[in-house]
Amino acid sequence: MCRLIIILLLLLILIVGYLWWKPTAGGSNSEVLPVLLWHGMGDTCCLPFSLGAFMELIVAQTKGTYVRSVEIGGNMVMDWESGFFIHPNEQVDYVCKQLLADEKMAKGYNAIGFSQGGQFLRAVAQRCPQPPMRTLITFGGQHQGVFGLPSCPTLSVEACAYISRLLTSAAYATAVQEQLVQATYWHDPLMENNYRRGSTFLADINNELYLNVFYTENLNKLKKFVMVKFLNDTVVQPKDSQWFEFYTSGQDKVIQPLKDSKVYENLGLNKMQRDGKLVFLGVEGDHLSISKAWFIQNIVPLLLEK
Ligand SMILES: *[C@@H]1O[C@H](CO)[C@@H](O)[C@H](O)[C@H]1NC(C)=O
Repeated sequence: MCRLIIILLLLLILIVGYLWWKPTAGGSNSEVLPVLLWHGMGDTCCLPFSLGAFMELIVAQTKGTYVRSVEIGGNMVMDWESGFFIHPNEQVDYVCKQLLADEKMAKGYNAIGFSQGGQFLRAVAQRCPQPPMRTLITFGGQHQGVFGLPSCPTLSVEACAYISRLLTSAAYATAVQEQLVQATYWHDPLMENNYRRGSTFLADINNELYLNVFYTENLNKLKKFVMVKFLNDTVVQPKDSQWFEFYTSGQDKVIQPLKDSKVYENLGLNKMQRDGKLVFLGVEGDHLSISKAWFIQNIVPLLLEK
């Protein structure tokens, strides 16, 4: 009986998901640059109570600009699973190809990443200069990774605890890196060398092991890089990763100021700072607690910039 109810509920979610499954919206106003969204872990591209609502809000506030929400794999279940099990390098590749194939994006676009979608979009900016990304906005992105996984959205407590244990004990094992997205941005400050050599995503895009000049150049092509930090975040640990800061190496209490970190120079964030491209915004509240009013006041003007 109970199982039947669960199956019926899942079916209902699939039907609603299918009917609402629209990874693109708007498109009647070509005066405003298109917008690309990338969802966080445990979310999908377009459900009406989540990113679908942001798509509608952006379309309304920009008088109909084209909005595209990243969807990995072609259906809701795959898209949801991708947040946990499809390697970010593969996802970024997939998105870059989608962008190239989308004529409406050809002249450039603004990008908004939610949670891990933030660092994934930064990878898009660094690896795929065509079509050009103009402004990158990250909500609660983990630009310096995470050390700890206090809670994982839309997973059971047991599943979350299991993932946490796996990360703590074997994040840099090849098999874990290949199969668990969160391991690729696990940043252990007590074992920086293991992180630099073992992280198959974050250490690469942060120029930790090799200095990839192409990444630095491409990131510097952005007009603005806006990082939004949730001041009372209980999901991202440490919170400071949302503003590209992290623990001073060797311990997990003291945060190193961004200006003193290697990545500041290695990614050319110093130059971006001098050019006035880095914007740090703080919002009171927990992870991704973005109100409509705050979005309209702080984010919409960035999207409307000429
Ligand atoms: C959220 O964090 C800020 C900054 O640390 C603090 O001033 C504020 O009191 C906190 N708000 C809540 C509701 O905990």
